[in-house]
Amino acid sequence: DTKTFDFKVADLSLAEAGRHQIRLAEHEMPGLMALREEYAAAQPLRGARIAGSLHMTVQTAVLIETLVALGAQVRWASCNIFSTQDEAAAAVVVGPNGTPEDPQGVPVFAWKGESLPEYWDCTEQILTWPGEQGPNMILDDGGDATMLVHKGREWEIAGAVPATTEEDSEEFGVFKELVRRTIAEDPKKWTTVAEGIRGVTEETTTGVHRLYELAKTGDLLFPAINVNDSVTKSKFDNKYGCRHSLIDGLNRATDVLIGGKVAVVCGYGDVGKGCAQSLAGQGARVIVTEVDPICALQAAMEGFQVARLEDVLDIADIYVTTTGCYDVIRAEHMTKMKNKAIVSNIGHFDNEIDMAGLAKVPGVTKTQIKPQVHEWTFENGDSIIVLSEGRLMNLGNATGHPSFVMSNSFSNQTIAQIELFTKNGDYDKQVYVLPKHLDEKVARLHLGALGVNLTELTKAQAEYLGVDVAGPYKPEHYRY
Ligand code: NAI
Repeated sequence: DTKTFDFKVADLSLAEAGRHQIRLAEHEMPGLMALREEYAAAQPLRGARIAGSLHMTVQTAVLIETLVALGAQVRWASCNIFSTQDEAAAAVVVGPNGTPEDPQGVPVFAWKGESLPEYWDCTEQILTWPGEQGPNMILDDGGDATMLVHKGREWEIAGAVPATTEEDSEEFGVFKELVRRTIAEDPKKWTTVAEGIRGVTEETTTGVHRLYELAKTGDLLFPAINVNDSVTKSKFDNKYGCRHSLIDGLNRATDVLIGGKVAVVCGYGDVGKGCAQSLAGQGARVIVTEVDPICALQAAMEGFQVARLEDVLDIADIYVTTTGCYDVIRAEHMTKMKNKAIVSNIGHFDNEIDMAGLAKVPGVTKTQIKPQVHEWTFENGDSIIVLSEGRLMNLGNATGHPSFVMSNSFSNQTIAQIELFTKNGDYDKQVYVLPKHLDEKVARLHLGALGVNLTELTKAQAEYLGVDVAGPYKPEHYRY
């Protein structure tokens, strides 16, 4: 029987190339593959209808096919306009057993280089299911799908979408337009979708931040699991993932020699720590900017100079923002940078670098060097190179984090989906992290592939420490 379903990707003929990459990625994703085996018979996600909004990469393809292997139905979009790998998207639509003429896989709505209206259309598509039943789970990265459900419902109940104002970013204006259109088409759309959702699992720092805000004001509509703050996510993906993919993005975009250059890392949280290490590993002289005295002291102890951005503009060659904050690098900074300085962001949203302000500098011109690499030339003839229009450059200019580290993140995602879907009644409309024994389980699933031999506690040693021989080994407040 031929399945027909709706989807929108760049080119299905890329599926074979995508499938080869997925096959190699599976080998590097032992956590996900172990979960497929563990839950093959039980099918804990049977009945789950997951709306996924997360960078549509090769690694995400392995996540999607794991969710399907556990019984879920899935619709997918990317959570960034530049982050899709078109061959991965094609392979997921075609599926392991389909052909481009007869796709048998999963509906994906994602391609590299979406416009903002297309981006929000794709996000709407994952929440708009054919037939009677809508989605009952969200898997989110950055919180856009969750925001669409919450704001859509709020504005639907209020009877109108607030007018778009000067203060709105371009993106938020486009978002409002989408909600306006969808409510006009179906005045109960978002109320109905919201009622069906049992929970959301959120991938990243920025999305988690949004969820805690909603919970604080009592506006969170369903339970949420904060996947980001599993130790095996933020202390691995954010740190070691960025340690790998930051310089990958820099190299693919510009191929400038990093050694000997002065590189500024704005923010020294988990992402900043990985970025600083990766630049230092290439021989760059790294300067960190921070607002938090603890993180600033950590950077200093690692041997990095900690300074204010204003004070290093005349010496720095490479900039990367990692703060999750906004307006960190502003036009007044960019106009004072060295000629051909490279400016990039690896934080979730594009507002860390004030791109709108840059475009308004009198006399500035923009030249495309290649897709996602632009030279902005000022009146005096000096220019700066901006990567991915200020959007996260490791996914815009390269292919994001490598499989092995994403296997950790996505094992947490899979376990969190199972947890929220199968034990929904145990959770209130709050934000939760996974229990430590599951965090330790995710780590355990990745040890064998690296040839790690764990030491086992004796019973007496375990008693001495006051822990179980099988773990968990640390109290909740331990920071790793
Ligand atoms: P974090 O909270 O651990 O670190 C952010 C740091 O920036 C904090 O130490 C904070 O004090 C500092 N900061 C805030 N405002 C600042 C400012 N104006 N100037 C200088 N420093 C400032 O967060 P984490 O986990 O490092 O994530 C950072 C961002 O990266 C988030 O948006 C997150 O969603 C995103 N992310 C991106 C990934 C990627 O692959 N591109 C992977 C993981 C996270």
